[in-house]
Amino acid sequence: MLIPLSESCRADPNDAKARAELAQYGDDLGYALLLKRIRPDIENATQADITKAAWGTVPRVALLFWSFRIMVGCGFFFILLFGLAFYLVSTGPILRARWLLWVLVFTLPLPWIAAEAGWVVAEVGRQPWVVEGVLPTFLAVSNISANNVLVTLIGFIGFYSTLLLVDIYLMSSTIY
Ligand code: HEM
Repeated sequence: MLIPLSESCRADPNDAKARAELAQYGDDLGYALLLKRIRPDIENATQADITKAAWGTVPRVALLFWSFRIMVGCGFFFILLFGLAFYLVSTGPILRARWLLWVLVFTLPLPWIAAEAGWVVAEVGRQPWVVEGVLPTFLAVSNISANNVLVTLIGFIGFYSTLLLVDIYLMSSTIY
């Protein structure tokens, strides 16, 4: 009902009755759009289609639960590690705590893992919306072809891999 209503408003912006009804139910328009993914001709949607669309709003809890905990766990670990390193550096030479130096080396990938987990939290957590309650993700998908995206991705990978090799070369020649 909401979508035909918004279409009649667009066809005749002076249709006061349609505008008033749209203003009354407009807040739910995004939820009506969710149904379009399952049933493009939504005026013929069955109760089963509506139930399926409604279930689409339930997030994948396990993935969110663990990504969030991995991110926050890393965050608290960094705070603890910083506190410990600060204490040891302030009270004597850091080289006496060789074990800490090893822990620091193995901690290097953790910020990256935390950032990826955070990204999963943000992206999975907002599904199925791009704008919550207004614009569903499937309606906001870009029409750029997958091939275009692939070529750009390969370009980025090539460019940054070259920079990585130059970086490794410069660092090694400075160290040795
Ligand atoms: C210490 C505890 C931390 C808490 C309580 C926390 C909390 C959050 C929350 C609530 C979000 C979701 C934001 C949203 O989209 O609404 C988020 C996203 C994110 N977090 Fe964390 N975070 C923590 C640590 C970290 C750390 C240590 C990193 C990386 C080193 C990190 C990287 C990210 C990234 C990259 C996102 C996605 C941002 C986006 O795409 O909008 N977080 N974090």
